[in-house]
Amino acid sequence: MILIGFMGSGKTTIAKRLHKKGYSIVDTDRWIEEHVGTTIPDIFENDGELHFRTLEFDALESVVGNYDVISTGGGIITYEPSYRFLADTDEPIIYLDAPIERLLKRISGDKTRPLAQERASVIERYQLRAHLYETLADIRIDTSQPISNCVAEIEAFINQS
Ligand code: S3P
Repeated sequence: MILIGFMGSGKTTIAKRLHKKGYSIVDTDRWIEEHVGTTIPDIFENDGELHFRTLEFDALESVVGNYDVISTGGGIITYEPSYRFLADTDEPIIYLDAPIERLLKRISGDKTRPLAQERASVIERYQLRAHLYETLADIRIDTSQPISNCVAEIEAFINQS
């Protein structure tokens, strides 16, 4: 399964919880940092967002099929080749979402997220992206509910599909 959703939607947290239940997991942000040998903020600063998006695509292509759960960066859907890849894959796409105020609260003050530094632009970015997540999603999970409920919903969906 592939977890998509905005920054702060709970992709990493939910992947970790699934890992505790025995699923193998990988995070495209961590994959990139390990392969490039530097941090996400450094990649944005030195090489720019577009370069980061190409690395994200490489990560996606490399990990699909090798893990039970792939947790992605929130902007992966903005890069056409990655969007196409997600639209074409047979992997279930799980969209994690929560009210914007909740997302803002979760990401505020996080210096490791270059695109989360200004409230107004975060809101605008969320609005621009929401329909992309929705179009790709096989199921949408509201992560403002307790994490155990989210995981139960995901497992119920995976087991019936
Ligand atoms: C980004 C989200 C981040 C990370 C990068 C860009 C985005 O991942 O990939 O900072 O464009 O929304 P998270 O969604 O895990 O914060």
